Amino acid sequence: MDGIEGSDGALSGVTRRTALGSTAAIASSLMLLDGEVEAASVKAPPSDMALDIVPVVNGRATPVTIDPRTSLLDLLRERLGLTGAKKGCDHGQCGACTVHVDGRRVASCLTLAAKSDGRQVTTIEGLADGDRLHPMQQAFIDHDALQCGYCTPGQIMAAVACVREGNAATRPSIREYMSGNLCRCGAYVGIVAAIEDVVAKGRQA
Ligand code: FES
Ligand code: FES
Repeated sequence: MDGIEGSDGALSGVTRRTALGSTAAIASSLMLLDGEVEAASVKAPPSDMALDIVPVVNGRATPVTIDPRTSLLDLLRERLGLTGAKKGCDHGQCGACTVHVDGRRVASCLTLAAKSDGRQVTTIEGLADGDRLHPMQQAFIDHDALQCGYCTPGQIMAAVACVREGNAATRPSIREYMSGNLCRCGAYVGIVAAIEDVVAKGRQA
């Protein structure tokens, strides 16, 4: 320990307190830097990086100028104010950000917003018909298929796609094709029951 740390906590003239203070300062600077980088990717981009796109979001053509690096999830949440799709892992592993593009489910955190140009993007906000819930939304309520609700928009969008794809005929198939959507609350029994209910009643729109 000679030359490294004395009995009073001194570290080559630097006390434990100042060393810890410096570490905290560096850590907070890095966090700030990280936040700045993230914020920069969702704000209106500088003109030399601007890309004009017109996705059709929940049935409405939505012209927007983006940084080409922006994810579809960040476009929806940070630029368009559609916060239904959630950012869970931001790495394509939890399904919380699931939306539909041209009717197919995608992990919007892994999808470039630029790829949505001219395409139909449907989020949980666009699923209901006015005040009438989509049958899958109603089934989730009927079967208590949620607890905290964080994963629920992604679960419902995936469930709607699962039925449309024809992958909800059996319970094992539902489990298999819903396996990309994680629920930390463990509401899986209710989620499967909700999907089975929609299929049994032929209510899928
Ligand atoms: S936030 Fe996109 S898959 Fe987890
Ligand atoms: S209901 Fe809480 S994470 Fe799924």
